[in-house]
Amino acid sequence: MRDSEFDFIRSVVYERSRINLGPDKRELVSARLGKRLRATNVDTLEAYCALLRGPGAEAELSNLIDAISTNHTFFFRENAHFDFLRDRAVPEMSARAKAERWARFNVWSAASSSGEEAYSIAMTLDGCAGSWPWQIEATDISHRILAKAQAGIYKDDTVNRLPPDIMRTYFQRGFGPQEGFHRVKAALREKVTFRHLNLLEGEPPFRDPFQVIFCRNVMIYFDRATQEELVGRLSRRLVPGGYLMVGHSESLTHINHPLKMVRPAIYQKPLAS
Ligand SMILES: C[S@@+](CC[C@H](N)C(=O)[O-])C[C@H]1O[C@@H](n2cnc3c(N)ncnc32)[C@H](O)[C@@H]1O
Repeated sequence: MRDSEFDFIRSVVYERSRINLGPDKRELVSARLGKRLRATNVDTLEAYCALLRGPGAEAELSNLIDAISTNHTFFFRENAHFDFLRDRAVPEMSARAKAERWARFNVWSAASSSGEEAYSIAMTLDGCAGSWPWQIEATDISHRILAKAQAGIYKDDTVNRLPPDIMRTYFQRGFGPQEGFHRVKAALREKVTFRHLNLLEGEPPFRDPFQVIFCRNVMIYFDRATQEELVGRLSRRLVPGGYLMVGHSESLTHINHPLKMVRPAIYQKPLAS
């Protein structure tokens, strides 16, 4: 890949998603672009860049972000967050609910990828929220991955480490042509709304603030200024005293933000703000 092509792809990806592709990502970009060249039937990177500059670029830009971004995720990833949700956030928020007139416990899985995070939150809340209604919003920049999340169908190897009682309660096993696949049961799927959203663009379409936001393993792809902007945006969407969960490799120590760290990778919005 020529320098000019890499620089162009970097700038397009940054503009679209704010994903910051450093020079160390050159190999990865090159490998992932190979798929897009085949899919768009162009022979050279030069021609692909021309396509991205042309009139029909819009759809391909979306595919490019899809190809570049990493969707890796799994059920109950970084389990301490789900324990915290069950043992601290839910009891604390439900004790405040009446005085605050919160009709519902609202959680946002920001950058939800293929849904494992949002459904793990749903399983946790189903087990501990009691009679307090709850709802989960889940968003991602990738249309392709959102379609997968919405379907809620996972292969054996994605769910094989989940305990049998979780499998029995929340999944339907596929038979015949669906053998080897497991679908999240409708009752749980209905508790999660998946929507397309670029976290750094426009205003998220939510009316109510959130008691808890999960925004994990996406900030690592952003530069410092973007991380700061994102944490500011997310903080404004939390109720006072609400919690932000970030990935364990995503310390907020080096950026300015209004939150207080309560545990590694768990931050709280001050009560009086
Ligand atoms: C590695 S996955 C993290 C999934 C999940 N949160 C977890 O921790 O397992 C990162 C996700 O961030 C999404 N993403 C990247 N840039 C984004 C942006 N600007 N707005 C919204 N989502 C974005 C990607 O599409 C991808 O699905």
